[in-house]
This record gives sequence, C-alpha cells and structure tokens, in this order.
Amino acid sequence: MRKSITERIRALKERRGAIILAHNYQLPEVQDIADYVGDSLGLSRKAAASEAGVIVFCGVYFMAETASILCPDKSVLIPDVRAGCPMVDMAPVERLLEMKARRPGAVVVSYVNSSAAVKAESDYCCTSANAVDVVESIEAETEIIFFPDKYLGSYVASQTGRSLILYDGYCPTHVRILAADILRLKQEHPGAEVMVHPECTAEVVALADRTLSTGGMCRYARECSSEELIMGTEVGLLHRLRKENPGKRFYPASEAAVCPNMKRIDLQNVLWSLEEMKHEVRVPEAVRARAAAAVDRMVETVKA
Ligand code: 13P
Ligand code: SF4
Repeated sequence: MRKSITERIRALKERRGAIILAHNYQLPEVQDIADYVGDSLGLSRKAAASEAGVIVFCGVYFMAETASILCPDKSVLIPDVRAGCPMVDMAPVERLLEMKARRPGAVVVSYVNSSAAVKAESDYCCTSANAVDVVESIEAETEIIFFPDKYLGSYVASQTGRSLILYDGYCPTHVRILAADILRLKQEHPGAEVMVHPECTAEVVALADRTLSTGGMCRYARECSSEELIMGTEVGLLHRLRKENPGKRFYPASEAAVCPNMKRIDLQNVLWSLEEMKHEVRVPEAVRARAAAAVDRMVETVKA
C-alpha cells in the first residue's frame, strides 16, 4: 500500500536526522506534523537547543533566517522561499542607518520581524513575547530606536513609560483587525475575554483584556478560567487553541486576518524540502556574526 504524505515526511525526517519546527500561524496539517509548534521566541530557542543537524522551518523567511543566525552549523530549510513578511520588506537597512545617523547616541532594538542586515545593525533583538523585558533591561536615560513595528513599539512605550523612536513599519495582516470588529464581538459574546497581538493598532489594543505574543495567548488560554475568548490575531492560531482547549470557545476577531505568506507552506513542499534538502537559508558570515550578538540577547532575555 502506498504511504501517506505524512508517513513519507516522518520517514524521511528520521533518515535526514531532521526536526520540523512550525509557527502558530501555519496550516493545521503542517502544525500537526511538526515536532514543535510555537511563537517566534519559542522557535528560536528550540532551534538553538536542538541536536538535529537539519531544521525544516515552517514559518516565514525571517524566522528561518534567525534560526540560521543562531545555528550556523545546521542546515536550516524553508519549504517555500517566497514565504516572506511584508513588515520586513518595508524596513530596509538603509532606513535604519538613516535613523542611527540622526541619533548617534541611541541604542537600537529591532523586532525579530526584520532582515539579517537590520539585525546586524542592532544592539538588541526582541520578539513580541519579550519586547517589554528587553526595553526594560536598557538603562533608563538611554535613547532607544525601536525598529520596525510602530504598533509593537507604541505598545512597549505604553508599558515601560519610555519614549521610543519609532519607524513606520506595521503588519498588513494585523491592521485588518478593526476596533469595530472587537466591539461587535464583545456585544455578541458579553462574557468573553479579549486577547490581541501587539502588532494590532493602538485602538484595538485599547479594547483588549490582554495583549500577548501567540505563545503567551496559548499559555493564557490554557490557564484562564474564561470559557469564551475573542482572539485578535492571525486566524491560524485558532487551530492550536481549539485542539488544546476542547471545552472552550474561540472567536476570531476578524476572518480577514490571514497571513498569506504563512500559508505558503504545505505538506507537499515540506516533503519536497526534505527530499531535495532545499531551500537552505544562509546568512553571509560577516553579517551573521554581527546579527548573532543582538539575537543572542533576545534568546537570553528570560522573562517572557
Ligand atoms: P509571535 O512571535 O507572537 O508568534 O508573532 C510572530 C508574528 O509574525 C506575528 O505576526
Ligand atoms: Fe509578517 Fe504579519 Fe505575517 Fe507575522 S502575520 S509574518 S508580521 S505579515
């Protein structure tokens, strides 16, 4: 009998000595074959701690690139090299260099949703799970450029009381979630708690009970006593939430919050990736070594 695609992926994964890491926004079937499903910080930590020589990274390019920065001796594969992130593309390193030139004394904190070149020009890297902690670890009087997500940056500023110098970057998927969506769902489900991702606009964040990374949302959903939750983030997270919490009800804040790049990875290209050992993600060593200093600080910032 012909083996199913998941059986073929599992067999080949064993043969290659590979692990499969998947982001929380991946398609349900991709999450289900992964060895680990998590947020950007969890995936980076998992990549760094893994003994496997090959990592198939089911997520967007900057995530695979970050794994490669952390693990230059491993082969990090992305099954579809076109799985980019528009926030990364709207923030070329030249813009950061201009900001640095205008503020020579400032420290740079870059969101992990950025290119390796941007990370190489940064002092610290952070994810949405530890952005507040990373900023709080920097001496109070220091000027900080926060690059490139203006919504995450303004959320961090509100939580830390620091005035951050922001760039005009944002996530085109999370800005589709509107305050009107949250208000309508709150009316329809008056008992529900509202969780949103800090990439949402400030008006949406202002309506939320909790603002968390995708990993933080999974943890909170498991631990809280609420049985109904309105989720202001990319809809892919609902698969994991429903699987882990069968007794609870989750409502997407907006069905329009779909990240097309995250959905480029499917079982066919995961299998192909293992067969062909493609596409290998590598960062030139001179850039990698400089970016690694900022990314190491991100991985080591424990409180999340
Ligand atoms: P998390 O790190 O919270 O999973 O977010 C990643 C991301 O790209 C959100 O759009
Ligand atoms: Fe980038 Fe937004 Fe997609 Fe996250 S959800 S990968 S920030 S476009």
